[in-house]
Amino acid sequence: MSARVVLKRSIKRRIAFGHPWIYDNEIEKADSVEGGCIVDVLTNSGQFLGRGYYNPDSSIRVRLLTRRNCSIDTDFFAQKLKRSLAMKSSLLRYGNALRVTFGEADGLPGLIVDKFSDWLVVQFNTLGIGVLKNEIIEALIATLKPKGIFEKSEGISLTKEGLESKEGWLFGNGPELLPFSLNGVTFFADTKGQKTGFFLDQRDNAEKLSKYANGRNVLDVFSYTGNFSFHCLSQGASRATLVDSSERALSVARETAEINGFISRCEFVRANAFDYLREESLAGHSLVIVDPPAMAKSPSSKKSALRGYKELNLRVIKKAVSGSLLASSSCTQIISEDDWMRTINDAFHDSKKVGIVSFRGGQPLDHPEVSSIFETRYLKFCLFRVFELCDF
Ligand SMILES: C[S@@+](CC[C@H](N)C(=O)[O-])C[C@H]1O[C@@H](n2cnc3c(N)ncnc32)[C@H](O)[C@@H]1O
Repeated sequence: MSARVVLKRSIKRRIAFGHPWIYDNEIEKADSVEGGCIVDVLTNSGQFLGRGYYNPDSSIRVRLLTRRNCSIDTDFFAQKLKRSLAMKSSLLRYGNALRVTFGEADGLPGLIVDKFSDWLVVQFNTLGIGVLKNEIIEALIATLKPKGIFEKSEGISLTKEGLESKEGWLFGNGPELLPFSLNGVTFFADTKGQKTGFFLDQRDNAEKLSKYANGRNVLDVFSYTGNFSFHCLSQGASRATLVDSSERALSVARETAEINGFISRCEFVRANAFDYLREESLAGHSLVIVDPPAMAKSPSSKKSALRGYKELNLRVIKKAVSGSLLASSSCTQIISEDDWMRTINDAFHDSKKVGIVSFRGGQPLDHPEVSSIFETRYLKFCLFRVFELCDF
């Protein structure tokens, strides 16, 4: 029998309606168990509410894995993986890469699994999901039959759980750069790069943006390995300039350009994006992409993040010629789409320009947003056509 955690009398609606997190202050009493153990969560009157894993050192004490009274074993994970794949596999028509599991949004808190062709890159972002690693690896092998599974657990959520970064092959092996295809372009997931090696969440936005790129000179600021640039070049963009502070990301971008035959149309600039946008004229570019990393993790830094978004977009809008395009994105979860759009509108006002929205994007099918878990909604994307007030 699993150890038990009993909730306070008034259960938060959040928990009742599907959110998997149970905070320390929502618990009436708990059996004494080690971090990472499986526990049963009961209502105050003793009703079974779900089963999950426990961390006594985190303010999120329990993350529920299921609302059923079932074993948490290899078969349990295989069933969850199959359900996610059934929902998402239509994306495999557009390439051979997919976010198989997006943590809480796929009912597996703390677990990220990206498929890049025959390889998987996995993040175990919590203590409890790490304890279940063997069962998860077995389920991944049985369900997806990969050539290799690479662990790349890192980031702030890991630190919050008292864990250290981990990197290495857990099963089979593969090259350092994992080749895969997306919308007809060959990309690499860099096992020594950022996050899982590639930002699959921008797959739809990059594909849609590419339809506006024909004949344009692209400036891809915060390019990482060139997802947006290479989508645009594949759809007729004339040239692309990739700007990033990471030499590693730019060297992978160079290899990507070579393998796709784009290299003669590319320029790679290692620079701080804020300085670059202040110092360069931008005159030659008719499509500018701005996709910075998350700017805030906690509500206390929300204001400064919004200032950052305003500054970045302002620097582009001020210099943009009438009729050029600005593709702007934000992956900061704690900033709402409304606040972000208001901030960009402020930048348009300050520049005495207007932005006509060509399309708004968001998260693709393999990064689902769950109605009862607002934290699963984070990605914002908007393409503006920029005009001087007098030309509008
Ligand atoms: C969200 S990722 C961009 C993802 C990319 N657009 C894509 O779709 O693959 C943010 C990128 O910004 C880069 N970066 C972070 N701070 C930077 C800075 N101050 N100046 C330039 N690049 C920076 C990181 O190296 C990373 O490649």
